[in-house]
Amino acid sequence: ENDISLRPKWIDEYIGQDKVKRKLNIFIRAAKERREPLDHVLLYGPPGLGKTTLANIIANEMGVNIRVTSGPAIERPGDLASILTNLAEDDVLFIDEIHRLNRSVEEILYPAMEDFALDIIIGKGPSARSVRLDLSKFTLIGATTRAGLLTSPLRDRFGVILNLDLYDMEDLMKIIERSAGILNIKIESKGALEIAKRSRGTPRIANRLLKRVRDYAQVVEDGIITEEVAKSALKMLEIDELGLDNVDKKIILTMIENFCGGPVGLDTISAATGEEKTTIEDVYEPYLLQIGFINRTPRGRIVTKKAYAHFNIPYDEE
Ligand code: ADE
Repeated sequence: ENDISLRPKWIDEYIGQDKVKRKLNIFIRAAKERREPLDHVLLYGPPGLGKTTLANIIANEMGVNIRVTSGPAIERPGDLASILTNLAEDDVLFIDEIHRLNRSVEEILYPAMEDFALDIIIGKGPSARSVRLDLSKFTLIGATTRAGLLTSPLRDRFGVILNLDLYDMEDLMKIIERSAGILNIKIESKGALEIAKRSRGTPRIANRLLKRVRDYAQVVEDGIITEEVAKSALKMLEIDELGLDNVDKKIILTMIENFCGGPVGLDTISAATGEEKTTIEDVYEPYLLQIGFINRTPRGRIVTKKAYAHFNIPYDEE
């Protein structure tokens, strides 16, 4: 990924997520003063908000190496055992999508996290015995979309649990302007605002749109991203004024047309739209909730008046 140049390396360069940064700054300083590895960290929040970036920043701030892997990539207990035995003292192990680890692999992780130990079973049947191998101390950083996706024994072994929120417009603009500076892109602040508005609260989307708008500005216009240029580019890209895509539209319109705007349960929305429940909850809902297009009630999700207005559908007041 050429995004690497855009990724901040230090906490002070990382824009937004102020509560997370404040906590991390304190925990990192405390651990460094005591010359200990940082306690295990769980990062959770919607995709594209910078969980991997933060894991790299933590390792960098602690002055240690990071080994990056993901839940689905670790297929067997032996795969994890080999990663763990190859870590150096105080290293960071980053496991993305940690909720997708299979059960037998997860069980290797418990003694590793708690006691920095690896329990190996030797032999089979009645003569089988367990041997305990010491590991170097390390910091596990796990990333997932929702903390509730983890089993409780795994969740309970993280000393630091941090929630990343969707970014507000001001922080997205700062991220876009910072990226533009790094990529030598000329952009006016109203141009940055126009891109920020359609980025679904997500830096990964903001940076992608910035690059595509830059292409348009370079070829069709004079290279400078003004408000007008951003608007025409985003129109060409078929990005709705709120950054909604076809799946967002399908979810809202299905709720309105088939269920009178709700309340309707997640299972029903999933069956009617053909989208996975977890995809709806982790990818689509957070943004639709943030912009106030849906609300969650004890009886299910409801579409708000604001969403009806956006799609020009009359709203029946009761
Ligand atoms: N790029 C992606 N996320 C970022 C952030 N939070 N701060 C600065 N640059 C970023």
